[in-house]
Formats: sequence, structure tokens, C-alpha cells
Amino acid sequence: MNKATYSLAESIKLLPVNIRNSVIRRGGGSEDQERASVVFGNLFLHLHPVRVHLNTLRLGYTLGLGLISFYLLVILIISGILLMFYYIPSIDMAYNSMLDLEFAVSFGVVLRNMHRWAAHAMVAFVFFHMCRVFYTASYKSPREFNWVVGVCLLLLTLFLSFTGYLLPWDQLAFWAITVGTNIVTYVPWIGDELRYLMLGGTEVGQMALLRFYVLHIAVLPMVMAALVGVHFWRIRKDGGLSRPLDN
Ligand code: HEM
Repeated sequence: MNKATYSLAESIKLLPVNIRNSVIRRGGGSEDQERASVVFGNLFLHLHPVRVHLNTLRLGYTLGLGLISFYLLVILIISGILLMFYYIPSIDMAYNSMLDLEFAVSFGVVLRNMHRWAAHAMVAFVFFHMCRVFYTASYKSPREFNWVVGVCLLLLTLFLSFTGYLLPWDQLAFWAITVGTNIVTYVPWIGDELRYLMLGGTEVGQMALLRFYVLHIAVLPMVMAALVGVHFWRIRKDGGLSRPLDN
């Protein structure tokens, strides 16, 4: 029975339970309905469907490739934010920032390599995930729109990788972006203008570095985060994951 007053010792003893009850209002239950209402009533749990098909949980079907892509994105965002504390997007300072990360910053090498390898891995895993979706014919109705969202995510992943390539401002970065943006000039009619727009001038210099930096750390990640949200929401709205017998 609930008492009106508690001694100090009793209050301290009950503190963990009270904190838990203030965050999670209702406990589980033995009935499906009770358990479902707990999931609906919790901000974090309600992101999950109340029921999933057994097949959704079978690792052999998805191979976890979509989730791995997502976790890589999370690693990239966290390591990218930490890198921003050290990186200066100026042609005089950018390469020095890299040297600082390599030789002066504690765990700078780990941080930089984590970001780099997660970026390479993400390109590969998003591609593998797309192959799995294609192989299981999961692009078919009602998931056509999510396939299109996925294609945009793949393009964004590639563009994030491309814009990040220039930032170390070493010889490899400079010439890779010079070649990459020269390819853009082959776009019919507007090729030269497009390259000018990307570089903020006629050659790879300070304006190009700044543009690539802003695209890399702000514009593209924001679009990516929004689209990943749409992607996950559509998985729920399309009736959960596809099942082999659907198609
Ligand atoms: C940033 C990139 C991406 C992330 C983080 C992501 C994440 C996910 C996750 C977590 C799932 C749940 C199933 C699973 O783990 O395989 C999924 C499903 C799906 N994804 Fe992606 N995805 C990405 C890119 C793509 C691409 C490039 C495509 C296709 C062009 C795509 C199309 C789909 C479709 C159609 C489904 C539903 C599959 C089914 O019902 O079996 N996604 N995605």
C-alpha cells in the first residue's frame, strides 16, 4: 500500500524505482494489448513496430546490411564532429590540421582513420545493401518509393565521399578533385558552368575548399539525416520489411 510519508532512509531506497517510474510510466504486462500500449506510450520504443514478422528478425535475409550502413553513418557523424574541432578549411591551414591530427592531437590518428575507413566502408555497405534489396526483389510494390529514396541515399553517400576527399588538401586530394571536376565539364550544354559552380572559380582553390567543406559538414549530412528518417519511416508504412513469399 502507498504511504503518505516516508523516512529519509526509505526515500533513498525508493529513489531508483521512483526515477524509473517517472521516465517509464507503465510496466510490461502479460497481455499483448498491455505490452503494445507500453510501446506506444514510450518515445523511444514507439519507433519500433509493435509486431514484426519472424522473417524480419532473420539475419540471413537482410544480412544486417542496412543497419550496418546506418551504424557507419553514426560513426561518421560522431568522428566528423570531433574532427571539426581541429580542422581549418583554409588552403594555408588545412594540410597543417592534418599534420596536427597525425602528430600532435591525442588519438588524432585514430580519429582520422576511423572517419576515413568508416567512409570507405559505408560506400561499400550501402552498395551491398542495395544489392540485397534488388536480389530479394524488395524494390517491388509497395516499396518502389523507398527504393527511390535509397537511390538518393546512395548518391548522397558518394557525394559526401567526394566532397570529403578534397579536405586534407594534399596532392592526392588536389589532383583527384581536379580530375573529378573536369569530368563534370562533359555534361552537355552546362558542363563548364557546373564546374564553375562547384569550384567557385576556374580552378581548385580556396573557394572550392570552402564550398566542399560546407557541403561536406552541413548541407549533405542534413539532407542525409532527413532522408534516412524518411527511409526508416517508409519501411514501417510499407508494412515492415518484405518477406520472401511476398514476391
Ligand atoms: C545511407 C544509406 C542507407 C541506409 C542507412 C539504409 C538503411 C536501411 C535499413 C536499416 C533497412 C532495414 C533492412 C535492412 O537492414 O536491410 C533498409 C531497408 C530498405 N532499403 Fe535501405 N538504406 C540505405 C540505402 C539504401 C539504398 C541505396 C537502397 C536502394 C537503392 C535502399 C532501399 C531499401 C529498401 C527498398 C528497403 C526495404 C527492404 C525490404 O523491405 O526488404 N536503401 N534500409
